[in-house]
Amino acid sequence: MDLLEALKNRRSVRRFTPEPVDDEVIRRILDVAPWVPNHHVSEPWRFVVVTGSSLKRLADLRYQAVLDKRRGQEGAAARAERARQEFLEAPVVIVAIQKLDPNPVRREEDYASMAMSCYNIILAAWSEHLGCYWNTGPLVSSEAVGEWLGLTPDERPIAFLRVGHPEMIPVQRRSPIAERIDWRR
Ligand SMILES: Cc1cc2nc3c(=O)[nH]c(=O)nc-3n(C[C@H](O)[C@H](O)[C@H](O)COP(=O)(O)O)c2cc1C
Repeated sequence: MDLLEALKNRRSVRRFTPEPVDDEVIRRILDVAPWVPNHHVSEPWRFVVVTGSSLKRLADLRYQAVLDKRRGQEGAAARAERARQEFLEAPVVIVAIQKLDPNPVRREEDYASMAMSCYNIILAAWSEHLGCYWNTGPLVSSEAVGEWLGLTPDERPIAFLRVGHPEMIPVQRRSPIAERIDWRR
């Protein structure tokens, strides 16, 4: 797979086929996660791979987190149910967890590395013909999810990456980058 082409052609995939994903493929994908620019080589990450019957638990937690956030709003239950179903349709969810440095500058730089690490995972999945979808939302700050993941007080989840075989690959648009580049010579 040509890297430049993959960088442009990769899309966030929302819908997956029911086909499972081998643990071995997930291991291969996660193998590239640490190989990103990382100031002080702080390695702020850890990952939880959620699959099998644990997906149902995570999907239920997502339902509750969305419901709690939208309590009293019209359509809250339907929205929460959709959120649950989304997680039930993915064969794997990878949770990326950042260890929070007490120093705010380091914490911000670590977040940059976390995001790159997630992107490595997403690109590695793409190279295996798998799609990913990066979810945040109410799950990220849910106490119940934190407890279920066994988070320590200095950890926070930054991404819930749904991974699976794409049912369809959406089309996206970007503005021409030349409009946003200012050369100084
Ligand atoms: C930090 C971050 C958080 C995101 N959280 C959500 C989310 O909670 N819900 C959602 O629908 N998409 C979320 N996305 C995915 C973006 O919506 C998606 O990448 C965007 O639509 C661009 O599509 P593309 O990746 O196919 O170019 C998130 C992406 C990032 C980088």
